Amino acid sequence: MVNGPNLGRLGVREPDVYGRQDLATLRKDCVAWGQTLGLEVEVRQSDDEAEVIGWMHQAVDEKTPVVMNPAAFTHYSYGLADAAHMVTDAGLPLMEVHISNPSARDQFRRHSVISPVVTGTITGLGFFGYRLALEAVAHLIQQ
Ligand code: DQA
Repeated sequence: MVNGPNLGRLGVREPDVYGRQDLATLRKDCVAWGQTLGLEVEVRQSDDEAEVIGWMHQAVDEKTPVVMNPAAFTHYSYGLADAAHMVTDAGLPLMEVHISNPSARDQFRRHSVISPVVTGTITGLGFFGYRLALEAVAHLIQQ
């Protein structure tokens, strides 16, 4: 599970938008949800675009399904979009998650360069969206 820039500040960053729970809580929740689904979940976060792109390459090489909240990279990173495309091109599930509903916010958030290359997108459901994304991964790898 990959989280992009500023998501390390969950809990203190715009709590009315992103909630009051922090990344450590998200990590704990996702590992526990994964266990109920038979998935071994690792939660990563970086503010560095190159590092996130490297994680996509690693997912391809290691054949690992991905749940990703690309955060602000969603709206402008063609480099990450190309790397995300490699994940789905390899036949691996890639779920895009947003805690908020970006379409209901600023104009610049209404466009995702990532959505066209992912398996599916979940927005606006808070941390619960990550749980649904893990359920989607569990479902998809059984197909
Ligand atoms: C976000 C939405 C993005 O627009 C924003 O840049 C984020 C978080 C979300 O989870 O709602 O950092 O991806």
